[in-house]
Amino acid sequence: MINLTGQFNLNTNVVCGDKSITHRALILGALAAGTSVIRNVTLSADILSTIDCLRSLGAKIEVKGTTVTVGCIPQHEYPRLTLNCGNSGTTARLLAGVVAGLGVNAKFVGDHSLTKRPMQRVIEPLTAMGAKFVLRKNCLFELRAAKLHGATINANVNSAQVKSAVLLAGLFAEGETRYVEQLHTRNHTELMLKSIGANISVDGNVITVSKSVLSPFEVDIPSDPSSVAFGVALAVAKGVEATFTNVLLNDTRLGFYRVLQRSGANITYCNIREVFGERVGDIVVKKSVLKPLFATEQDVCDGIDEVPLLATLALTVKGEHKFGSVAELQYKECNRIQAIEHIASKCNQIASFDGKDLTVISNGVLPKGKHFSSFNDHRIAMCETVLSIIVGGGSVDNAPFDISFPQFCGMLGIAPLKLGLIGESVSDSKSPELMAHLAGKAGVCCSYDTINLPKDISDDELLMVIGSFDGLNVTMPFKNRVAALLHADCPSVNTVGKNILPTSTDGYGVIQSLRSHNIDITNKPLWIVGAGGAAEACVRELVQHGCKMQVLNRTKSHAKRLVDKYSLPVEVTNPVAILSFVPQCSFEQSLPFPDSVEFVFVADYKGHSNLREQATKRGLTVIDGLEMLYHQGAKSFALWTNTAVQNYYPQFLKEIK
Ligand code: S3P
Repeated sequence: MINLTGQFNLNTNVVCGDKSITHRALILGALAAGTSVIRNVTLSADILSTIDCLRSLGAKIEVKGTTVTVGCIPQHEYPRLTLNCGNSGTTARLLAGVVAGLGVNAKFVGDHSLTKRPMQRVIEPLTAMGAKFVLRKNCLFELRAAKLHGATINANVNSAQVKSAVLLAGLFAEGETRYVEQLHTRNHTELMLKSIGANISVDGNVITVSKSVLSPFEVDIPSDPSSVAFGVALAVAKGVEATFTNVLLNDTRLGFYRVLQRSGANITYCNIREVFGERVGDIVVKKSVLKPLFATEQDVCDGIDEVPLLATLALTVKGEHKFGSVAELQYKECNRIQAIEHIASKCNQIASFDGKDLTVISNGVLPKGKHFSSFNDHRIAMCETVLSIIVGGGSVDNAPFDISFPQFCGMLGIAPLKLGLIGESVSDSKSPELMAHLAGKAGVCCSYDTINLPKDISDDELLMVIGSFDGLNVTMPFKNRVAALLHADCPSVNTVGKNILPTSTDGYGVIQSLRSHNIDITNKPLWIVGAGGAAEACVRELVQHGCKMQVLNRTKSHAKRLVDKYSLPVEVTNPVAILSFVPQCSFEQSLPFPDSVEFVFVADYKGHSNLREQATKRGLTVIDGLEMLYHQGAKSFALWTNTAVQNYYPQFLKEIK
């Protein structure tokens, strides 16, 4: 989760090496006869995927700062390889062409998103060139060693990735390979191949390539117009004047800029020069007023990754906006048409897709403080972040900026406080939503990430993770271990941070939940179910309120430890409440339910609980763990941010429903 305020401070000199060109430079460097040097490399997750795969193929790659040295993939017998392409479609599709050409047996795998993306588009043309693909579950595809021959391939989709896969395979095929494009897509592969001596020619929409010896090269990668676009969008929307330096200005990448210029944005280029066959220069943004946006099919093709950003920007401008032939957006890191519809509807505006074109209709009045879903898509998360800043505040459920643009926050001049949660299984936690709510109320720019850690992680690694956050919540099974590691003065810790002493806010959370129900437990007899970290934190707090507590736990020795440590009575009859800290289990189900009980507290807010059910049947008050989660989280957040504790539980409950 990331929460934004309306604050930003554009940093226009951020160096964000173009991702498309970097993928190609790495791959061609690994095919060239010698060692190539690539400078200004942005080590995004996608680029690291390509580096990783090329290393698996045997290329020697050295990374020093932002300079990458690439050696040639050696000719040798390859074992059956597994190439992990992560989230990167470009890695998978371009390397399909290379691996088919090299005649290597390899299985291509990727993350959840990539596994769902269409691969038939490369499988078909490469098969026509003689490649042998095998399709299996849980992988993108498998390639079996085979000899390639030239072919004429007619593009069946406007995709530079497919074109590049075919051209790269064509470097190894017997005879000539011709690729016929429908629309002219980004042409970095052709330009680069030409500069390093490949047998390649471009005649209109036909590209011809054949076996080649590629010369090693040195290249300075210009900044990525697809990344810079986020800064330009913010500058245009906020009327900020800005000059973004050393950006790639290849026409096949400038669709976003053309659409904005046509709609009245004052965007010009200067300092234009040629670098490695590519046009490079500065982008100057001056104050202007936008009219409704209109994108042709070619604009969309030349700015395919920026269409969601254009649609987002369109929401801020009153009127009807049109984007032609956007169907391809359905097959990106997420279904980006759906993502655009989600953003529009969160803003009370309309985005509609008729199977071909997209129309956005906006009254230009946007709400602030909305919580967006990024669909785990880096570019959608960046669109929503920029929009949240434009409207003066909002949050995004997940912020995978590192996939393409690790310097994103740096370029916008925002420095989110880095908060998070560690535990063994925390992916379903409600804390990110809670923190989005709290940060929105407090006007704090922060992120809150959930990190699953293996139970047996070493102390050193655990400390390293803790040290990488400004503030961290800790949950099972690490509460006691972190307390011991950080020499806390309490036995179980759920809150640590850069400028605070490790502590537990669990006990506070329980007491505060009871208080909100006007329950005073001072000196009362209680049953506590469970003897783990949260139960202990609560016992510790309740002892100070004079409560008489009996601890019930499946493992008797764990209960006894608490009894001894806090001098608790062994038995408490007629408890006024049962406070349970265990998930539903046979032990919880078999608990007696004395008539004296007036209310129950159930920490587990996700699962079913027998105690909750029985209490509801008897018409007793049930205090839900979500309420405790709210109050303990509010206390943690207040500690990290040095702000007052906030209490908006009823509103939070409405927000998350
Ligand atoms: C890319 C081409 C585009 C683009 C992707 C990068 C490339 O994909 O969306 O981010 O580097 O060739 P398609 O070829 O699928 O349009």
